Amino acid sequence: MAQPNYPDDKRLAVEKALKEFFPSRKNYPELIYKAMRHSLFSGGKRFRPVLMLTTAEVFEKKPIDVMPAACAIECVHTYSLIHDDLPAIDDDEVRRGNPTCHILFGEDMAILAGDALFSEAFYMIAKYQTSDKPKNIIRVIEELSDASGPRGMVGGQVLDILSTGKKVDLNTLTYIHSHKTGELIRASCRIGAILAGASEDELNVISNYAENLGLAFQVTDDILDVIGHVALLGKEPGGDERKDKATFPNLFGLDNSKKIAKEAIDNAKNVLDNINRDTKSLVNLADFVCERNK
Ligand code: IPE
Ligand code: IPE
Ligand code: MG
Ligand code: MG
Ligand code: MG
Repeated sequence: MAQPNYPDDKRLAVEKALKEFFPSRKNYPELIYKAMRHSLFSGGKRFRPVLMLTTAEVFEKKPIDVMPAACAIECVHTYSLIHDDLPAIDDDEVRRGNPTCHILFGEDMAILAGDALFSEAFYMIAKYQTSDKPKNIIRVIEELSDASGPRGMVGGQVLDILSTGKKVDLNTLTYIHSHKTGELIRASCRIGAILAGASEDELNVISNYAENLGLAFQVTDDILDVIGHVALLGKEPGGDERKDKATFPNLFGLDNSKKIAKEAIDNAKNVLDNINRDTKSLVNLADFVCERNK
């Protein structure tokens, strides 16, 4: 379903490219490809690749030219969802409108499907991503691996787990959100900008935009867990409260959380004034992040 301020043409282009880059030739062992495909091709907004294509376009690179890196980040994101849903982490049974990977394929295959999507991401970059400056490919690998690992998404997930059932302070909660979710969003923007040849100054501005966007994205995810509907979200709301997760609504209430998300989005949009480019498409994506209902 089309969402306001969301570039559906780019989402569809990502959908098509993922099918092209995802291996159909090597289907043995069949089971692992089935499990990977189940999670990768069962919907999803494709927000991170769309953000990467949009950022590249702002810096005058054709979206299609960053498509392998965009598909790679969607593979990393999908792996994180599969592992996040496992009984040992959030123990969720619905994702992207379907049974979670471990419900259909078992925990063993779900763990391996996540691992395999993570490796597939770096394979896609090495095999298909080109750049007039080959050094940029190394930078892309550096950005994506750094954002995914212990200094990035995994670090945030660790603190998320350690904070479950506890009252945390704002600093810890901000660390959790800006790492478990913010880092991949930041990497999406940075990789798009790097491949498009943006200057270091522009890269700093775009990073600042993305940090605000990432925080707002996860605060909104927390809000939707309280007020959202399974039919739209494609995942079961209410889990955060049931599991006593460290979330903004849990710490500050719903109305304050909405204000915090809106403030971060305003910051993200204001920062863009510091770049001398047409940034309307990034402003629209920022609006989408706090207006979304899925
Ligand atoms: C959900 O991400 C998990 C978070 C990091 C908040 P999305 O809201 O982007 O989920 P999909 O990709 O559309 O399924
Ligand atoms: C997920 O945060 C962050 C990840 C790294 C996957 P959540 O646990 O809130 O994401 P959902 O609500 O299950 O999609
Ligand atoms: Mg989680
Ligand atoms: Mg979860
Ligand atoms: Mg959530």
